[in-house]
Amino acid sequence: MDLAGKKIVLGLTGGIACYKAAELTRALIKAGASVQVVMTEAATHFITPVTMQALSGQTVYTSQWDARVGNNMAHIDLTRHADAIVLAPCSADFMAKLVQGRCDDLLSTLCLARPHALPLLVAPAMNVEMWQNPATQRNVAQLKADGIHVLGPGTGEQACGETGLGRMLEPEQLLEEIIAAFQQKVLQGKRVLVTAGPTFEPIDPVRGITNLSSGKMGYAIARAAREAGAVVTLVSGPTALTTPYGVKRIDITSARQMHEAVMATVGGNEVFIAVAAVADWHVSNASTQKIKKDQDGKTPALEFAPNPDILAEVAARHDAPYCVGFAAESERLLQHAEAKRLKKNIPLLVGNIGHQTFGRDDNELVLFDAAGHVALPRAGKQALARELIAAIAVRL
Ligand code: CTP
Repeated sequence: MDLAGKKIVLGLTGGIACYKAAELTRALIKAGASVQVVMTEAATHFITPVTMQALSGQTVYTSQWDARVGNNMAHIDLTRHADAIVLAPCSADFMAKLVQGRCDDLLSTLCLARPHALPLLVAPAMNVEMWQNPATQRNVAQLKADGIHVLGPGTGEQACGETGLGRMLEPEQLLEEIIAAFQQKVLQGKRVLVTAGPTFEPIDPVRGITNLSSGKMGYAIARAAREAGAVVTLVSGPTALTTPYGVKRIDITSARQMHEAVMATVGGNEVFIAVAAVADWHVSNASTQKIKKDQDGKTPALEFAPNPDILAEVAARHDAPYCVGFAAESERLLQHAEAKRLKKNIPLLVGNIGHQTFGRDDNELVLFDAAGHVALPRAGKQALARELIAAIAVRL
């Protein structure tokens, strides 16, 4: 569990997005965290402390004058054993308070009195005009300068009927960002390009050739790179997966489209990780019309032409990033993987047993580089992706 043992103080301020805090509480607990809820008086008009108490399983605090804390110092006690404070939703008014260091209720006092090293993450939620107001923008800039993490906001339709920036991020996105806050920033500021998923090679407008890659490993790696502080672009074949929060995704279908997208974006990246299961050939006589069954008894004859080797081509560039390849082998992994690393002329190749990983949530990897090989034992793909990113960071 990504937040096992973590103690989160979840602060709610007044805003309609309070309803999302209920879902966030459940998600945090499911990820292994314990959640201590603190609400402003305004927040209690949007969602009741009873709801938050039932979901968090802990006493909810709303007042500085609450006598339930033994020494009557809730503003100190509640954060002293915490691993992070998350304010979701954080109103424009509360951001202004944080900037000015005002403390006229329990939550603002608790934030001002937090230990210096305790991370404070705020998820703004407000009307688009409130968000764009220069006063709010000044406050956002100051919060960031003060080392406070500002999560989002998102854009889209708002509860007030207007549309634009200011929506609080969805609970799942907030969860990703909270987990990211606990990861080592080993690729801070680096630019990373990842390919993921299968490719689809058309036979005619409704048929094609593809493979069993689900994209899970590539998406996990893109997310881990972003958690490590990188600016990540993901070139993805057709998958049913959600884009990791904060990752720029470019969708393609065929290997040649993937090639084109990679070549157009690779310049300026420090790392290229080719996880996609790219088709080696495309159908050179693909039909522009649907092939009919009735062809005087003849079966269609497909002809194939090779696809460009994207990884080898990137590795051969004069400005080549640090290149990482994947090898999905069905047998003799050690021999095949090291041979592939040398053939593609890349510093690091990650081997896995193809048919035992496609579509699964776990995997086992072997890393091959000039110094030899090292195994990463079977684990969840997200955990392995973080280990791989750490391994890349030390080799950069
Ligand atoms: N790859 C690529 N472009 C291709 C084919 C593969 O970028 N046209 C990348 C994959 O993303 C992976 C690595 O190259 O990182 C290994 O791909 P694989 O298909 O296993 O290797 P091949 O060299 O095609 O060897 P074989 O199919 O014979 O195993």
